[in-house]
Amino acid sequence: MAQSPRLRVGVLFGGESAEHEVSVVSAQGVLQAIDRDRFDPVPFGVTKEGTWLTAEESAAALAGIPAGAYRPLPTPAGREPKIRAEVSNALNELDVAFPLIHGTRGEDGTLQGFLELLGLPYTGAGVAASALGMDKALMKAVFRQAALPTADFLVVPAHEWRADATGVIDRIEAAIGYPNFAKPANMGSSLGVSKVSSRQELGAAIEEALRYDRKALVEAAISGREIEVAVLGNDEPRASPPGEIIPRGEFYDYAAKYLDPDGADLVAPVRLEPGVEKRLQELAIAAFKAIDCAGMARVDFFLVGDDPIVNEINTIPGFTPISMYPKLWEAAGIPYRELISELIDLGLARHASKRGHRGCARA
Ligand SMILES: Nc1ncnc2c1ncn2[C@@H]1O[C@H](COP(=O)(O)OP(=O)(O)O)[C@@H](O)[C@H]1O
Ligand SMILES: [Mg+2]
Repeated sequence: MAQSPRLRVGVLFGGESAEHEVSVVSAQGVLQAIDRDRFDPVPFGVTKEGTWLTAEESAAALAGIPAGAYRPLPTPAGREPKIRAEVSNALNELDVAFPLIHGTRGEDGTLQGFLELLGLPYTGAGVAASALGMDKALMKAVFRQAALPTADFLVVPAHEWRADATGVIDRIEAAIGYPNFAKPANMGSSLGVSKVSSRQELGAAIEEALRYDRKALVEAAISGREIEVAVLGNDEPRASPPGEIIPRGEFYDYAAKYLDPDGADLVAPVRLEPGVEKRLQELAIAAFKAIDCAGMARVDFFLVGDDPIVNEINTIPGFTPISMYPKLWEAAGIPYRELISELIDLGLARHASKRGHRGCARA
């Protein structure tokens, strides 16, 4: 019997966010583990400046970064257009794309929109779910609508803050109080996130959040454990056992995530009461469905006593072999290699199913 041709899988990594280096390590993991009997992976690195590297440049850049070392991709010399003809030609020859780029222009729907324009199937969330997952103000509005438990919050648009800071602070004090957390609506990796204990600190914390985005969020501080659940699937997604993040400092800040190897412990899976575990899994699936997600997501919770509160959903969670998302599936009996294959199959299935609906994008 003739062997079916291997699918050309574009592995998209790097990107402009602070999680660039994590994404590079995720790509190294995927390229190493992917099932080469079924797939022919083609790497496409995106530099911190947003320039797409060719497959050859990407492979050379990866070869220069020791496995598991957190290093950025080198920037090509000279002023290049972001996407050169060689890159777009190679993208057009792919069968499917595997986006692993976190944050801005990777996880926020823009990259997904670009892949839609190319008519290319891709793994993970579509345009709308990606955009909702990235914007905490919109995400929380949708979670509220779906009756998911979330911390009380207020959105502070930059223009309102500039027009009447005192009025905004008064409203926050009346609705949220202290302690609270101020954060940018669109960011990730804890950048611009501060814990606020008093009126004196609030102004600077909002200013800091607004350095990153035109909207800040101020949320009631929740005192609880940080629990994460992995979700996998399209229309009928399933949820993994929960894992726990135990930050050493006051909260899971940027340093704990990326600078200090001892900044946080990651326990995957974590043993919880069966009833609590089941409730977390139901809520994780409900959060996934609320934003119309697809493929994968990691849903992050605070657990207060036995009561889960949904913090956020991440549509492109860290995907290194030792990241929470793959580790949770590994604990559930799905090894990294199979997880990669399943995500690609889910991306292809979602693309194929859209063809059956006249209003959806066709290849
Ligand atoms: N309302 C809150 N109560 C308690 N801790 C919080 C709250 N919001 C954020 N944090 C802490 O800050 C970290 C980062 O905030 P998060 O909203 O998850 O943003 P990011 O998208 O940057 O991960 C969380 O993991 C948690 O440690
Ligand atoms: Mg988070």
